[in-house]
Amino acid sequence: MEERGPMNDGIEIRESRREDLAALEVLHPAAFPDEDLLPLVRDLVGAGGDVLSLVAIADGELVGHVAFTRCGVAGRTERIDLLGPLAVAPARQRRGIGAALVGEGLRRLKDDGGSLVLVAGDPAYYARFGFVPEERVVPPYPLPEEWRGGWRSVGFGEIEPPLEGVLEVPPLWMRPALWAP
Ligand SMILES: CC(C)(COP(=O)(O)OP(=O)(O)OC[C@H]1O[C@@H](n2cnc3c(N)ncnc32)[C@H](O)[C@@H]1OP(=O)(O)O)[C@@H](O)C(=O)NCCC(=O)NCCS
Repeated sequence: MEERGPMNDGIEIRESRREDLAALEVLHPAAFPDEDLLPLVRDLVGAGGDVLSLVAIADGELVGHVAFTRCGVAGRTERIDLLGPLAVAPARQRRGIGAALVGEGLRRLKDDGGSLVLVAGDPAYYARFGFVPEERVVPPYPLPEEWRGGWRSVGFGEIEPPLEGVLEVPPLWMRPALWAP
């Protein structure tokens, strides 16, 4: 039986299903009008075990989505995940739904033996979850200058020796436009 996340002010967080795709195809363009994330989102929802894809449901409606993709660093066995994308329906933003999705994802990854979660995103937003600038693990494509402060990570404990090297991402993330839109 599918694990269900805690309720947060009437918000249910659960793993996405294929039937959610139609709603996700509306959500992402609404949250990111300037980016075409749908090919990535379709791949993430269909990816299976190496992707944790969570949706937020409020009043029976899909109002948020986050995905975490399992990645790696050469020569290391620790579990490393990449957060993204994260989207909340514009009419529902600033009510804690993004925070509930990220918090639930981090909790599940930690419980599942995760070591490090990386993100390329707004530094101020992700700092609130403990993400700090990441300098040792570098993205698979160079980020544009204005994004560099947004490359961050949060660890679930001390990693010795520290993880270092290029983040190895699965093919669905090997799209240069995702790293420099
Ligand atoms: C960013 C986003 C996911 C946040 O979700 P949310 O449910 O609105 O966020 P929360 O309610 O958990 O947190 C709200 C706080 O986040 C901050 N915040 C919200 N949107 C933000 C944004 N685009 N950039 C930076 N900070 C943001 C604000 O400080 C806000 O706090 P405040 O209302 O007290 O000022 C959502 O606004 C969204 O989908 N935006 C468009 C897509 C996007 O930019 N995604 C970023 C993923 S890398």
